[in-house]
Amino acid sequence: MAFNKDQFDSIIEEFTVDGSRLHEVAADFRYDLRKGLQDPAESSLRMLKSYVGLPTGEETGEYLALDFGGTNVRVLRIRLDGHGKFEVLKKVAKPLRVEGIYDFVGEGSTAEQQFDFIAELVDEAIEGDHTTKYLLGHTFSFPSEQTNLYNAKLIIWTKEFATKGVEGKVVNDLLKEALHRQGIDNVEPTAVINDTVAVLLAAAYKQEDTYIGSIYATGHNTCYFEPFADKAERPMILNLESGGFMKLAPNRFDAEFDAQSEKPGEQRLEKMVSGRYMGELFGMALAELLGEQGSKYGFTSIDMSNTILDETPAREEVKAIVKAKTGRELETADCELVQQLASAIVIRSARLVTATYVGIIWQLAGGKAIAKQHIAIDGSVYEKMPLAKENIMRALSELLGEDAAVVDTVLENGGSGLGAAIAAAMSQE
Ligand code: BGC
Repeated sequence: MAFNKDQFDSIIEEFTVDGSRLHEVAADFRYDLRKGLQDPAESSLRMLKSYVGLPTGEETGEYLALDFGGTNVRVLRIRLDGHGKFEVLKKVAKPLRVEGIYDFVGEGSTAEQQFDFIAELVDEAIEGDHTTKYLLGHTFSFPSEQTNLYNAKLIIWTKEFATKGVEGKVVNDLLKEALHRQGIDNVEPTAVINDTVAVLLAAAYKQEDTYIGSIYATGHNTCYFEPFADKAERPMILNLESGGFMKLAPNRFDAEFDAQSEKPGEQRLEKMVSGRYMGELFGMALAELLGEQGSKYGFTSIDMSNTILDETPAREEVKAIVKAKTGRELETADCELVQQLASAIVIRSARLVTATYVGIIWQLAGGKAIAKQHIAIDGSVYEKMPLAKENIMRALSELLGEDAAVVDTVLENGGSGLGAAIAAAMSQE
């Protein structure tokens, strides 16, 4: 074995969230939630109002849905048939960046270029029809301050986006202007929602007892339906921007990565748990084990997934992945340690995410019995990353004990598009 076992053990220790820490995170999250309901300035959670409640199931009709939340932008034409039924009539998708060809997410790009590109995609979805009236729901998956369902101002880019001239702007105004420049005046953007809100709307359209919506993918965030029992507000979904939760114990890899990121100090939870970042943390820890501290290897969460899944006796897959990214040939015993490292990072991620869900569940229960409920989750990490789901279930049991029996998680695949269409329909209620 080439790795130093003591060094390895101490790295694993740094990525471990034990039972008592897990409880602390859940309790701290609930604390921030309570504080945030009184005054968001007192909390690390943004508690952004969505101005939308839960759907009744009666929402019907044909709508456009724009899903803008990562490098891949999608526009869908969707017909809602009520009570969870719907049909996607047309779907177009394009990346906002193609390496070496164009880039509408980097700092060299402008708001006009970005939204013109999106407007062209809308044009494709309506097949050049500039007469039929369409309402458009827009899932915009970045922290935005809303004053109503239409008016959402981007507070700050996340997920390493850096396009100039969007922060501080009303995104639907940028979209409307771009649509107008393309001669598309028959499409009216009427609602902007976060992707977590879209997931919750989509799930609640299909089944009752769903109050929490979450994205566990490239980025991470959660929203929930706040009943505002004290009548301070009308009941509505709050986008927590939980990726910005701060009451955590970042290890030195987290701290070092944060310092080099686009927005140091922001999105501390997201940088510890989401798909965009786990590969980076894995690479940093591996660099230390290889005696190449500071090297950047460009591991992705897909590499981590493939690493964990390799069951070949000689760990051929792990060897190939490590060789491709670092140029180093590992012995089988070291490959097994690399698998443990990847697993530890994924397990930490799932445990931290679950602690935030439980913080919300506790807050909603308000000291009374925990209601039967589903947590709706969308995203590649939840869906595809080995060990994620089982560790969410395990952490739910650890935190909730017997009450875990009334809580389950459901995959709300593609909720961003469906949710946007539902929001467009709800904008007319
Ligand atoms: C954004 C959130 C979004 C999440 C998942 C985060 O980076 O700040 O608004 O919900 O990613 O897409």
